Amino acid sequence: MALLKNFTIADWALALGVFTITYTLWLVIYRLWLSPIAGFPGAFWPKVTFWYEFYYEWVQPGQYYRRINDMHKEYGPIIRVSPDEIHILDPSFYDELYAPHKARRANAYNRYAQGTGFEDLFALMAPHEAHKYLRDSAEKLYSKVAAHEALVMDCVKSFCGRLDHERDANEPLNISHACLSLSIDVITATTFQHPSDYLKHPDFNKELLEIQRSGLVYVPLFAHLPWMARLFSSPLIEYLSSRVPKLREWDEVIQQNGIHHTAHTMENVITYLAMDKRRLKSLKDELAVFWQEHPDQTSSWFALRKLPYLTACIYEGLRMGASGMKRAPRVFPDDAIRYGEWVIPKETPISMTIYYMHMDPIAFPDPEKFDPERWLNADPDGLMLSQFVPFGRGPRDCVGKNIAWMQLYFALSQLYRPGGPDIELFESDDTDVRLVHGYVFPQPRLDSPGVRVLIHNHPRRQDEEDTMTNSV
Ligand code: HEM
Repeated sequence: MALLKNFTIADWALALGVFTITYTLWLVIYRLWLSPIAGFPGAFWPKVTFWYEFYYEWVQPGQYYRRINDMHKEYGPIIRVSPDEIHILDPSFYDELYAPHKARRANAYNRYAQGTGFEDLFALMAPHEAHKYLRDSAEKLYSKVAAHEALVMDCVKSFCGRLDHERDANEPLNISHACLSLSIDVITATTFQHPSDYLKHPDFNKELLEIQRSGLVYVPLFAHLPWMARLFSSPLIEYLSSRVPKLREWDEVIQQNGIHHTAHTMENVITYLAMDKRRLKSLKDELAVFWQEHPDQTSSWFALRKLPYLTACIYEGLRMGASGMKRAPRVFPDDAIRYGEWVIPKETPISMTIYYMHMDPIAFPDPEKFDPERWLNADPDGLMLSQFVPFGRGPRDCVGKNIAWMQLYFALSQLYRPGGPDIELFESDDTDVRLVHGYVFPQPRLDSPGVRVLIHNHPRRQDEEDTMTNSV
C-alpha cells in the first residue's frame, strides 16, 4: 500500500503501458497458438484482432465480404475470419450448417448484432430454446396466408394507384422510396394490424427512409465500439422485453428485416426490366394472357406462382439483390461440426454468406447478369435451386417469407398488367441497385439517390423504346 502511495503519474502510466503490452502479447499468443481454433487456416491479422474486420467494414465501407472471398482464394474453403469465427465458402455445406437432417441446438452469435441497436433483443433470442419459444408465435401469425393475401393486395392497390396518379406528371418519382413505403405498409398491415400509410405520404416519408439508410453505415462503427452504441441506444427495448406480450419483442426485428429485402427485390426487377425491353415484353405478354383469364384483376398468390416468367423474374431479383452479404453465424453448444478433414470445436461461431451461394459462377453462369431465363427450365434437383437461399434455411430462416413472396407476386403482376404504367428510368441505371456495400442490409453505391423513374400513360413509340439499353 505504501508503495502505491508513492506512485507518481509517470509510474502509473508506465504500469498501464506494461499491463497493456503484456495483455496484448498474451492475447496474440492465445489467439495464434492456444485458441481451440488456432490450427484453422487464415491470414495473420483476422486471427489476432477484430480490428481487421473493423477496417474492412468501416474504413473500406462494408467491404469485408469481398476481403473474405479473397482470403478464401488464398487459404481454401474454410478460414478464420476473426479471432473467434470460422467461415466456410462451399455451397454444398449450406444445409449441413443451417438445416441439418439431424436437428441440433443452434444459438445465434451475439457479437453479430452489435451496433444494430438491437443487442438486447438479439441476446434474448440468441439461445436455441428462447428463440424457439419466441418464434412459435411469429410463425403462427405468418401461417395465415389467406388472411394476409387481402391485406397485402390492399397495399399493392395503393401502390399502383399512387403510380397511376403520377402518370405523365413529367416529374421523376423515386421508385426506391415507393417500394420501401409499400414494404412498410405491408408489414404494418399484416403484422401489427395498423397500416402505416407511407404510400399516401407525398414523398413517401423520404426523410425517414434516408435517415434509416444513412444509419446503416454507422453499424460497423458501433459494432466495434459497443459502448458508443450503448450511449446512443435507449434502454427502452430492454424494459419492453420484460413487460410486453411476447410478440411485441419481434416488432422492431420484423420491421427491419422485412422492409429492405422485399423493397430491394422489387427495385431490382423494375430497374433491370426497364433496361431490357425484350425481357419486359416477355413478362408483359405472359401477364396479358393471365389477366385476360382473370378479368376482375385479382388473383391468388397460388395462381400467380404458376406463371413461369413472372416467377423467373422474382427469383432473379431475389438472387441478385436480397441475399445477405453479411455472414449468418451459428454457434452449436453441444456439437463439434465436421467439415472435410476439419473438426470445428463446439461453441465456435461458424458462418457462411448467402451472397456467395447466389454469385457462384458454377451454379449461376455469368452471375452478375440479370437473366430470368436461367430459371425457366431449372432442374429441380440441380445446383441452382439447391443454392438458392434468399430466405436462409432451417429453424432460423426468414419467418416473414410468405409475406415477402405475396408482396412480390402481387405488386409485380399488377405493375406489368395490360394498361399498367409505362416505366422509364430517369438518370438511373443498374448501379443504383447493384449491391456493393455489405452492411446488415446490403446497399448499392452510397451516393445513389435511389432509382428514379418517369411514369408514362401510354407505351412509348418504338423509336423512343429503341433508345432503351437493350441488355444489361
Ligand atoms: C425478400 C424479402 C426477404 C428476404 C430476402 C429475407 C431474408 C431473410 C433471411 C436470409 C433471414 C435469416 C437470417 C439468418 O439466417 O440469420 C431472415 C430472417 C428474418 N426475417 Fe426475413 N427476409 C425477407 C422479408 C421479410 C419480411 C417481409 C419479414 C416480416 C414480415 C421478415 C422477417 C424476418 C425475421 C423476423 C427474421 C428473423 C427470424 C428468426 O430469427 O427466427 N423478413 N430473413
